[in-house]
Amino acid sequence: MKLASRRTAPCHSPVPPGPARRAHAWPTAEVSAGANVDAAAQRRGTAAARLALACACASALVALASGCDVIDYQLPSYHKGYSPKQPVAYSHKVHAGDLKIDCKYCHFGAEKSRHAGIPPLNVCMNCHKQKLIKPDSPEIKKLTDAWERGEAIRWVKVHHLPDFVSFDHSRHVSRGVACQTCHGTIETMEVVAQANTLAMGWCVNCHREYNRNPPPQMADKDITASTDCYACHH
Ligand code: HEC
Ligand code: HEC
Ligand code: HEC
Ligand code: HEC
Ligand code: HEC
Repeated sequence: MKLASRRTAPCHSPVPPGPARRAHAWPTAEVSAGANVDAAAQRRGTAAARLALACACASALVALASGCDVIDYQLPSYHKGYSPKQPVAYSHKVHAGDLKIDCKYCHFGAEKSRHAGIPPLNVCMNCHKQKLIKPDSPEIKKLTDAWERGEAIRWVKVHHLPDFVSFDHSRHVSRGVACQTCHGTIETMEVVAQANTLAMGWCVNCHREYNRNPPPQMADKDITASTDCYACHH
């Protein structure tokens, strides 16, 4: 099934599904360094989310059949701006901005796998193990203490798609979509904040736009960013 590509008159139905659609847990979960970020938290609420998706799919189908364009109704922009406090005052502005460390030095999964990943502590310790950088800093002491105890830093997850959506970093990064297109200017952030909604309309609108009119650096690549439901929901 394809999303209708033409825009039709504003459509006020279907009503987005009720409270159940927020039944999945949102990021109260913590990610430990190096762990698969896809952990238990994403499994929570799966059944409820699936059910919500099934019901909502039915109403989306009704919408298609009645000539409404599903994308014309905007889902609420929850979690744009979400910026939880982290256990260590790690700054992207210092590391990715001032020191110009490449994103993929730390997020080394981004090009080849589904997850960009959060770097394990040993990546930080490549520089901080020697205790030469700001030796009196209490924030760096948290790193060296954890390292000496063999513990991980329990970073708080910022971005989180519901688990009925399938998203793969490598499909985007290897085709030349810059991190900043989706995450904003991370290299200016002291504390990471979610720059976009991650709502379905955001994904689908970009896919349509890139199919129709890819940015210059991608113009020679044959871009076919799918708008099939199944591409993102399986
Ligand atoms: C020196 C290592 C390092 C570099 C370089 C780095 N990051 Fe990070 N990044 C981290 C750590 C550690 C976290 C988890 C703590 C936090 O959220 O601040 C993180 C978190 C993130 C998150 C949020 C993850 C979540 O929980 O949803 C995004 C997005 C991100 N980085 C993107 C980038 C981008 C884009 C760049 C390059 C401009 C970059 N990072 C460079 C170490 C790094
Ligand atoms: C390539 C080397 C390098 C890597 C890798 C690196 N850092 Fe740093 N970090 C630095 C330097 C240099 C500074 C000092 C910058 C300055 O002068 O303010 C610093 C500063 C810091 C500070 C601020 C200390 C303070 O009190 O101002 C923290 C916290 C920190 N790093 C945490 C981390 C974490 C966590 C990681 C891993 C995700 C990491 N660093 C990876 C080089 C590095
Ligand atoms: C097309 C949009 C897009 C691009 C491009 C993109 N990301 Fe992401 N990123 C996301 C989404 C969506 C999530 C949430 C994924 C989830 O919850 O499963 C995410 C999550 C993350 C996370 C949290 C951990 C993880 O792997 O889920 C990090 C770190 C991250 N991105 C870093 C990066 C870096 C670094 C780049 C560039 C090399 C990048 N991203 C490029 C959309 C994007
Ligand atoms: C490019 C990726 C993408 C495509 C294509 C896509 N979706 Fe989604 N969909 C998402 C994302 C991301 C979410 C979760 C964020 C949200 O709720 O907006 C989502 C959420 C949903 C939800 C739950 C809505 C809610 O309020 O929580 C339903 C129902 C849904 N999609 C149905 C469909 C149908 C039907 C199609 C095909 C016509 C489709 N999707 C195509 C990415 C996509
Ligand atoms: C900035 C634009 C942009 C955004 C935002 C974006 N995508 Fe994509 N997406 C692309 C491009 C470009 C491709 C690669 C197309 C290709 O390989 O030809 C792609 C490919 C994909 C594919 C593989 C499609 C296939 O044909 O197999 C999936 C799945 C996908 N994206 C899901 C998502 C989801 C889910 C989101 C939102 C959370 C999202 N994308 C947000 C641009 C984007």
